[in-house]
Amino acid sequence: SWTTGNVIDEQVALIREQVGTKRAICGLSGGVDSAVAAALVQRAIGDQLTCVYVDHGLMRKDETEQVEKDFVAATGVQLKVVDAQERFLGALAGVTDPEEKRKIIGREFIRVFEQAQAEIIAEASGDQPVEFLVQGTLYPDVVESGGGTGTANIKSHHNVGGLPEDLEFQLVEPLRKLFKDEVRMVGQELGLPEEIVQRQPFPGPGLGIRIVGEVTKERLDLLREADAIAREELTAAGLDREIWQCPVVLLADVRSVGVQGDGRTYGHPIVLRPVSSEDAMTADWTRMPYDVLARISTRITNEVKDVNRVVLDVTSKPPGTIEWE
Ligand code: XMP
Repeated sequence: SWTTGNVIDEQVALIREQVGTKRAICGLSGGVDSAVAAALVQRAIGDQLTCVYVDHGLMRKDETEQVEKDFVAATGVQLKVVDAQERFLGALAGVTDPEEKRKIIGREFIRVFEQAQAEIIAEASGDQPVEFLVQGTLYPDVVESGGGTGTANIKSHHNVGGLPEDLEFQLVEPLRKLFKDEVRMVGQELGLPEEIVQRQPFPGPGLGIRIVGEVTKERLDLLREADAIAREELTAAGLDREIWQCPVVLLADVRSVGVQGDGRTYGHPIVLRPVSSEDAMTADWTRMPYDVLARISTRITNEVKDVNRVVLDVTSKPPGTIEWE
């Protein structure tokens, strides 16, 4: 019968058999799937695994610390954190087009990740070679992509250096038979903190696609504050399960007139986008309690500099996507 204990025992045995005494690398995104996959492989092969986390500076408040401290504390995993904030901000300077932002973030991410891989491989060269790449592929991903081949052909770029021309990694995908709720149960059983296991979806490009307008450090800091307030209040109101996710968006290129304290303000609006959904393919805006909305609005306008208005997005998907960019 299916139990999380059985799944863990079975996968640990399979991973040990597959990897042997070689080494593996796993990219952590901050999301549930990569965290659980890494924890499972760590359980199986311990220090033969190294995780890589790219901090692009587009994460929400405390998210990087969560990976750095809580995840490592719970698993004892070896973690390489790459601080690439300046690199990403530099690449995003002056860019306002949503697709362009996504392309730049994706491109920089791969570059930084490959560089980190090359460093880990170089460091391990006298040791056992790094031959395995851990991925948090779930059952729905396998079905959607038509089965998968089991081998990733990751080509090194000449400008990255260190990697052999056509290095082939064997994939380790311990979650291939699982659905999301099962992955969460396995993560819980492995002792991962609740904040990681129950995490709502968050896009890879992070807050970079939640700033309408150019992405700057100042705007990111401002949005991080507003987002942290919204998340805190939604959690306090017990709405984390009912709401699929609630993007908080900064309209950086829009200003409106307000009055705060004794004076006129001319600040930016923050958009709240709470949605209910089964799979993110379609979604409806969440009819959430007015008193919670009121608390979020009051706190954001009081506590976040340069924000003088909070608006609610009441659009379903379609026609609106969940994210604004
Ligand atoms: P949209 O905006 O297309 O979002 O309705 C659907 C779901 O996908 C998430 N999303 C992303 N996730 N990388 C990700 O890993 C991305 O580039 C990305 N873009 C959107 C979004 O948060 C929602 O859950």
